[in-house]
Amino acid sequence: MSRIDDLKSYQQLYQKSLKESEKYWKMVASDFDWFKKWEKVSSGDFHNLEIKWFEGGKTNMSMNCLDRHIKDPELANKNAVIFVPNDPSEQKKEFTYKQLYEQVCRFSNVLKNNGIKKGDVVCFYMGMTPELLIGILACTRVGAIHSVVFGGFSAKALSGRINDCQAKMIITHDGGLRGQKVVPLKDITDEAVKECPSVSKVLVSKRAHNQIQFNSKLDVWLEEEMQKADTKCDPEIMDSEAPLFILYTSGSTGKPKGLLHTTAGYMVNVAHTFDNVFQMEKDDIYWCTADIGWITGHSYLTYGPLLNGATTVMFEGVPTWPDAGRFWQIVDEIKVTHFYTAPTAIRALEAAGVEHVRKHKLDSLKVLGTVGEPINEEAWEWYNEEVGKKRCPIVDTWWQTETGAIMISPLAHITPLTPSCATHPLPGISPILVDQEGKEIEESVAEGNLCITRPWPSMARTIYGDHERYRQTYFSTYPGLYFTGDGAKRFQNGHYRITGRVDDVINVSGHRIGTAEVEDALDEHPKVYESAVVGYPHDIKGQGIYAYLICHKEIFDNKDKSETIEKLKKELDEIVIKMIGPIAKADKIQIVSELPKTRSGKIMRRILRKIAAQETDQLGDTSTLLNPEIVEELIQGRSD
Ligand code: PRX
Repeated sequence: MSRIDDLKSYQQLYQKSLKESEKYWKMVASDFDWFKKWEKVSSGDFHNLEIKWFEGGKTNMSMNCLDRHIKDPELANKNAVIFVPNDPSEQKKEFTYKQLYEQVCRFSNVLKNNGIKKGDVVCFYMGMTPELLIGILACTRVGAIHSVVFGGFSAKALSGRINDCQAKMIITHDGGLRGQKVVPLKDITDEAVKECPSVSKVLVSKRAHNQIQFNSKLDVWLEEEMQKADTKCDPEIMDSEAPLFILYTSGSTGKPKGLLHTTAGYMVNVAHTFDNVFQMEKDDIYWCTADIGWITGHSYLTYGPLLNGATTVMFEGVPTWPDAGRFWQIVDEIKVTHFYTAPTAIRALEAAGVEHVRKHKLDSLKVLGTVGEPINEEAWEWYNEEVGKKRCPIVDTWWQTETGAIMISPLAHITPLTPSCATHPLPGISPILVDQEGKEIEESVAEGNLCITRPWPSMARTIYGDHERYRQTYFSTYPGLYFTGDGAKRFQNGHYRITGRVDDVINVSGHRIGTAEVEDALDEHPKVYESAVVGYPHDIKGQGIYAYLICHKEIFDNKDKSETIEKLKKELDEIVIKMIGPIAKADKIQIVSELPKTRSGKIMRRILRKIAAQETDQLGDTSTLLNPEIVEELIQGRSD
């Protein structure tokens, strides 16, 4: 791989990646196996939105993750995946590249034997076991498009996603193991499938051995199919721009968006960023704690490490079971060198007490990483001192489901670090800051809305089935620019600090939640007439969910009684769990008589955010409101 190895070469290569973009990406892409080389490195722009990379090329993702490596006998016998089960007493499982190749081939044949063809969509709703990773690689091998739905989503959220992409097959577990809990994945799938006419097969993998209903018309046991299947399967020849996967994410409006990523650009960019950001050596062991249900689990648990021939750890459980030392015990046990997690996990483990981390040596660690939300300085310092023992660089990686790959990040051991700073852009990425009017802020020290000026290889190409929504969401606020939805500060040295979302998206424990989705769920309650949801600072989760509710008189009149609030909160939680999943439950609710509205009838969320954040001294001008008198009521009734 063409790796950057010092600050000077970063500066040179970064410049080259912008000034001689074609040459740069040609060099990077030459490290991969192609059935046919591309004819044109890139085309399209942020006006026509017909973005293509490596057009005319033919390749295959699983071939580049597996077949390419097993040609080398040493790599063939190197561990590709180390699976750490939920229960510490259960044996870990290791897969060499050769063994992973065989499993992926088998799984590919299972897909084919069960009717999956190139271009079909396969939905995964599973716990974090190797079958999930093997399954998505198998999809890429046969040219099917995977759509992984996080195992914490509800039946309704699952069926909505399946119907949106018309998946033909669902692959699930009987139950998922998370700490002491069994998540009834198959039961939830059964409920979802009733609403999904496109699904003709459900593959079920045995994991928790919980009771399930087996519907012989639809269901097939995965393990039985795997046993019957052959260990050879040629990779399909895929166009560079062939769809690779769909991943749903929340936005500020409407239903979740299915971001579509395509094959070659994603592959090249994800591999290149993994290599540069983490700077791994041959025998290092890399552990990303994300679930494959999120983009981090796609790009930097699965594809990034495997494309680089690295050893990737896959953990099924939770950080706090059997105790809050679980992560650190695993690090010591399998000698993890590179550890990548979310700030919310760091804060939760910090809050659990330092004794859990000090019990473990952690001397194998070389590099630490964070992703998913801004990391506050205190958590950064704790991570640096208690986990990294001040010897490990922390790579604070900023990116998004839409970007496919890391965009702004330090390079481990190379970039000088500042706490809570994502630092500099990676090759090919040109960030700028703009003001509210979309004018570029030229000063080096500045704060503004973060935009990207030109296409990069791993960017999502569209919202599945709705290209116009893709244009509207990302390219209409500031025409000609990709708007990230984030705010950022820039410092004298050109480094960036991401300050968080500037739109109506809340980042709860590193998970993106659209306020509109939560409001839709809350409004389902027969006694809730209108709701407005905002984020507020939360010690562990980063942001919590605060809901202002206009309710039936009976509730309003009793709003100061704790049993009224508790009962309502419980009922609302149940609705949210059913409609979205437990991650979207409101942390705080406040019953109000009105919401602050502008003269044109729009809710003034800025005021609601300030009140929820207890920043009432910064409310700004409220005189333009239609109902300025409501502000005092909201402040007095704030839920603490
Ligand atoms: O607000 C930013 C935040 O997470 C959002 C993207 O969320 P998602 O698509 O779910 O992807 C998360 C994993 C890549 C961004 O718009 N975010 C992500 N990384 C960082 C971050 N905020 C601050 N610092 C980061 N390193």
